[in-house]
Amino acid sequence: MSAPNKSYDPVEVEALKPEAIERMRDEALAAFAAADSLDALQEAKVAHTGGTSPLALANREIGALPPQAKAAAGKLVGQARGAVSKALAGRQTELEAERDTRVLVEEAVDVTLPYDRARAGARHPLTTFMERVADVFVSMGYEVAEGPEVEAEWFNFDALNFTPDHPARQMQDTFFVEGPKGTAGDESGVVLRTHTSPVQARSMLDREPPVYIVCPGRVYRTDELDATHTPVFHQIELLAIDEGLTMADLKGTMDHMVQSLFGSDMKTRLRPNYFPFTEPSAEMDMLCYVCKGTSVGNPDRPCRTCSSEGWIELGGCGMVNPRVLVACGVDPEKYSGFAFGFGIERMLMFRHNVEDMRDMVEGDVRFTRPFGMEI
Ligand code: PHE
Repeated sequence: MSAPNKSYDPVEVEALKPEAIERMRDEALAAFAAADSLDALQEAKVAHTGGTSPLALANREIGALPPQAKAAAGKLVGQARGAVSKALAGRQTELEAERDTRVLVEEAVDVTLPYDRARAGARHPLTTFMERVADVFVSMGYEVAEGPEVEAEWFNFDALNFTPDHPARQMQDTFFVEGPKGTAGDESGVVLRTHTSPVQARSMLDREPPVYIVCPGRVYRTDELDATHTPVFHQIELLAIDEGLTMADLKGTMDHMVQSLFGSDMKTRLRPNYFPFTEPSAEMDMLCYVCKGTSVGNPDRPCRTCSSEGWIELGGCGMVNPRVLVACGVDPEKYSGFAFGFGIERMLMFRHNVEDMRDMVEGDVRFTRPFGMEI
């Protein structure tokens, strides 16, 4: 055991001299004042108030003082520590306020800036309209069917009872990929389909009756692009094969379609026509959805949409020709069916007052944008 240290005078502890305590306090205050960020202040806080800071160490020394010296030293150190923590809190508040102001400025959002400079794309109105029409039939239980756009001449014409010399086979209407039939031997040529009707033949060959299909798709004809023609356009084809179907079913189905698309007071009418693959065949008109027929014989209220005729031509239709049923393996004694086909571009022109068909194919977003950003 070592002997007591005779020269030890607790009152004279170096760290507890008033000048030393004042210096510690002043250094702490200076460090806080110099801290220019919350991080720097945190460092100064650890250095000047932490467990190993000079003032904390001095505080610890008090315990070793004789009782009569403790009070004075305690007061001295306590006042210094109080001043230090007050200065710390004050600087902390100042720096936090500075930070908050800076954040408000730096992170301010300019709500007048466009939210997204790169506009999102959307599907073309032709596509969305075609799907909407197909949906009307899907809701009646029809199935969506598809076929190739590069089609065998047999499906496009022969199966549909087009005789070999039918004018529609001539070069002016049909894009031939191979053929045409007759010049390329007895084989069926290959064409870009001129209508969606070959899907009728494909669907009958693929399925057992009853058959209820709707076929939206792209078709091709050798037309010049102008205000009312385009060599690539779209059709929707409808085919129903079942026992006991009549022209009345066809008309009822089409009435339902125009009512779904244009309003419950719409109706259709039939005019005689000819197609090789339907018998009897008809042209289907729908009531003009703008004037509802009121412009007819009423020169004071002319209608631009239907040229005051009261009706708009929709497309071709009829009862499926029994020769087509036979060519596609369906028993015409047992089954009958109806078919309908119409152009989407024309319909979109009427529905949205589009005056020039070229607008639909040129891809200018100023045309498509007003239709909305349906995706
Ligand atoms: N495919 C015919 C055309 O493009 C339209 C049509 C379809 C006619 C179905 C009758 C039945 O002109």
